[in-house]
Amino acid sequence: MLSTSPPSRLLLRDLPVAARLTLAALLISVGIGYFSALVQLHFQHAQPGAWLPNGADAERMFSHTRASDRKLSKLEMLLDADENLPWNGGGQMSAAFTKKSSGWSKAIKSKAKQFVGRRGGAPGEAELAKAEKELRAQRNGEREAFLAWIRAGADKAEYEQDKFCLTPEVAKLPITPDFVGTDDKGPFLKVKTVLTERCVRCHAKDGEDAKATQFPLETYEQIKKYLTTDSGGAMSLSKLAQTTHVHLLGFAMLYGITGLILAFTSYPSWLRVPLAPLPLVAQVIDISLWWLARLDEPYGHLCARFIPITGMIVAGGLGLHILLSLWDLFGRAWKITLLVLIALAVAGGYGLKEKVIDPHLASEKASTTSAKE
Ligand code: HEC
Repeated sequence: MLSTSPPSRLLLRDLPVAARLTLAALLISVGIGYFSALVQLHFQHAQPGAWLPNGADAERMFSHTRASDRKLSKLEMLLDADENLPWNGGGQMSAAFTKKSSGWSKAIKSKAKQFVGRRGGAPGEAELAKAEKELRAQRNGEREAFLAWIRAGADKAEYEQDKFCLTPEVAKLPITPDFVGTDDKGPFLKVKTVLTERCVRCHAKDGEDAKATQFPLETYEQIKKYLTTDSGGAMSLSKLAQTTHVHLLGFAMLYGITGLILAFTSYPSWLRVPLAPLPLVAQVIDISLWWLARLDEPYGHLCARFIPITGMIVAGGLGLHILLSLWDLFGRAWKITLLVLIALAVAGGYGLKEKVIDPHLASEKASTTSAKE
């Protein structure tokens, strides 16, 4: 006998318990994984003291940076940036001259010992502070002299000969003695030596920083990529291509799975149809904006400003996928358990915010203000 009723839709609730338990565990793992991705986003790209990157951070990462009258190259932008910005290609590399230089705290201690003098014993806080101040002045001179080479056109011959003649203003600055010399034309900076000492330690094929090894700075040709001003200070093309494929392939898989789970829930179609594909669609727009942010003004900066918004839509969509699907998987006992779990998570999250996150953000902020003094 033929049935006239429409074939019933396949629902999650009809799946065997084992399958539903697996899906519940999967959704919870994805939720936790995504949360840690947000924590990483904070550390990599947010300004000190902020939860997550905002429009201004997105502009810094994806769009051209300009001094008042000209576009900056990536190298100039990174070396002229505040030391408290995140330590990567979207923030700064200026700390390579100070905190991130090899033997920094040892250098401070040994300099402080000179100030202890005849009194002897271990250097106290005052001596350490004085030593750090002097060292920072020398390192700053080093950095300024190196920036002067970049601004003067970063000549290849000067790099190969390890000799960049210093202008009188720059020569006046205190500069780490190992990196300057004098010949008949006056004082010069050993540009190649500076790069080797301060950067190549990490930025080499066999460098000591796994991430930085992918962006070697061992030859002039490799450095030159970061000296062009046409991409501005924006994320380098190689880095942008890398993050694009990581995001599109990795996250597409994830949002695809959570979207499909939501598609088989018992919610009405007006909710499922737009929401299931939403994170995938928003992510494609998000990543398109990363590339569009490279356009010339005013479009590029405008596109960058929208990146946090599309990012929020992706995150919100995924959050709803997880919560709504979890809710729909089992019967009443499970729903009550889930409510209790959510209440616990909210309480735990509040405690975490009060006890850990807020103090952490405040200390990030405090360390910026004290470093600027
Ligand atoms: C202690 C290790 C270390 C030192 C020293 C260091 N860097 Fe980096 N650098 C990194 C890391 C880590 C990244 C981020 C790589 C990533 O995004 O995956 C990075 C990123 C960069 C990028 C962006 C690469 C890209 O295509 O996105 C540039 C340019 C750069 N550094 C230049 C320098 C310069 C110039 C110096 C010397 C003044 C320097 N770095 C010193 C670790 C280091």
